[in-house]
Amino acid sequence: MNDQTLSPVGIIGGTGLTTLSGLTLEGERTVDTPWGAPSAPLVSGTLGQQSVLFLARHGHPHRIPPHQVNYRANLRALYDAGVRTVVGVNAVGGIHPAMGPAHVVIPDQIIDYTWGRASTFFEGELQGVTHIDFTWPYDEDGRRILIDCARQAGVAHSAEGVYGATQGPRLETAAEIRRLERDGCDIVGMTGMPEAVLAAELGMRYVCLGLVVNWAAGKSDHIITMAEIEAAIDEGMAGVKRILTDAVAGLGALSPRPLS
Ligand code: HPA
Repeated sequence: MNDQTLSPVGIIGGTGLTTLSGLTLEGERTVDTPWGAPSAPLVSGTLGQQSVLFLARHGHPHRIPPHQVNYRANLRALYDAGVRTVVGVNAVGGIHPAMGPAHVVIPDQIIDYTWGRASTFFEGELQGVTHIDFTWPYDEDGRRILIDCARQAGVAHSAEGVYGATQGPRLETAAEIRRLERDGCDIVGMTGMPEAVLAAELGMRYVCLGLVVNWAAGKSDHIITMAEIEAAIDEGMAGVKRILTDAVAGLGALSPRPLS
């Protein structure tokens, strides 16, 4: 079992979650990594009894678009601070009919449509080429904990789903969403990759808590507006925070990720 004081749970907050209320704040650290600076200082604190490190993916205030986030620096900063389990909180669009605004999705798969992002630590001056296994991009033990907490708290959620990671920052066309749907995607977002694979490359457990903030393009009778997105964040973020608060102790107690 991890020593919880030594191994905080990492929480990467996305749109709608740039600060974590409920966190008993202990400090804020500006750090650097061989891959550059992370999006924001690491905020340390406790949630319940569990030590956590919070990182605002888009900076605080929210200013870094999804394709310009330094994902490598973010993951490496958390790793260097002792984090071995990470929850990525992501705002997403809903494609599956059951996944409408304010619904929570704990995906089990991802398809990567992003391009041109620095998406591996294994490049540059290397001794050899490394291909990590990525069959199951999300940690199953961690997913079970999130799912149990969502169920016990009565938060409307889906216990599986395929996350389609798009480049952004623009939203998709209706035809692009139909294509993602044919591919099997249930939700669409811009930040799921390369975050998930970089965590895996560092040997960390990684799970995603997706909050649907709009129907994906062409899936409703109107275009997507910021007002709609903000309303869904207002409605759904309380459930996300509740799941996080209830789940961190279990996540912090997980053994190190088994080597693949
Ligand atoms: N598409 C891509 N990313 C998103 C969306 C969307 O509809 N909503 C929130 N993030």
